[in-house]
Amino acid sequence: MLVFAKIKSVQQKIKSLKKGTSIGFVPTMGALHKGHLSLIERAKKENDIVVVSIFVNPTQFDKKEDLINYPKTIDKDLSLLKSVYCDLVFAPSSSEIYANNIKSENFEFDGLEFQMEGKFRDGHFDGVGTIVKRLFEIVKPHKAYFGEKDFQQLQIIRSLVKNYKIPVKIVPCEIYREDDGLAMSSRNARLTIEHRLAAPFIYKTLKKVKLKFGTENALDIVKWVENEFKKDPLLELEYFEIAEEETLQTIKNNNPKRKYRAFIAVFAGKIRLIDNISL
Ligand code: PAJ
Repeated sequence: MLVFAKIKSVQQKIKSLKKGTSIGFVPTMGALHKGHLSLIERAKKENDIVVVSIFVNPTQFDKKEDLINYPKTIDKDLSLLKSVYCDLVFAPSSSEIYANNIKSENFEFDGLEFQMEGKFRDGHFDGVGTIVKRLFEIVKPHKAYFGEKDFQQLQIIRSLVKNYKIPVKIVPCEIYREDDGLAMSSRNARLTIEHRLAAPFIYKTLKKVKLKFGTENALDIVKWVENEFKKDPLLELEYFEIAEEETLQTIKNNNPKRKYRAFIAVFAGKIRLIDNISL
């Protein structure tokens, strides 16, 4: 496994590959877990070589504290990547990517950016768009893998690729969960024991929502979820929405031709957790 920190050297390596070599790309912010590895394993099966980037992107954090506290476990990450036979790692510094100008571009993502996470995380998707566009320019992958865990991010990337005509196929990957249903996330390591024990309630509730959907009115389901969370003093609901998959617009009436998903964001103490389920 080769590890590069410089744009020029990773580009040189990629350029030197035999013509026709297919490149699968998995962008990450490190602190890798089995959720990330599931994307890499999928990319491994579908491409000749797999490139993983590790970069804690400053422009997508709206809270400085969150950026500072983001777990950094590069040695462990590299040994995990070796264990799944990753071919190439790109782990640049912040100055390599942004020089001295840590700023986002401004994007329009077909209105997707105003929904859910967009309402609560100022500038987040401009930051994600900026770094993913840059990484695509550097790595020039044929396929890029994104988790449905961050479903809004996945749709935003699809919009980015369409609007900028970037020649890459975006591959959505299923959410990888702990045995108790909690969606794997780098943030889970920062939960207190109490909050870790409380957190599986999020997915349990989403599964009940899935059962209710179709027989109960969406507004009633939203109220029901809000009430369920009021019962648990350890978990604070930030939002729960049932939205259309493609536009992420809140459901108005259930159109059988459209696909819907339930989306949730919850604070477990100071840690913000998100999850979703297809309905
Ligand atoms: P990060 O949170 O490290 O996630 C990297 C990729 O792993 C994303 O596509 C995310 O959706 C996916 N992922 C995380 N947890 C997952 C799980 N439990 N199951 C399946 N996939 C999961 O998302 C980012 O980094 C950044 O925003 C990035 C795209 C790298 C841009 O900086």
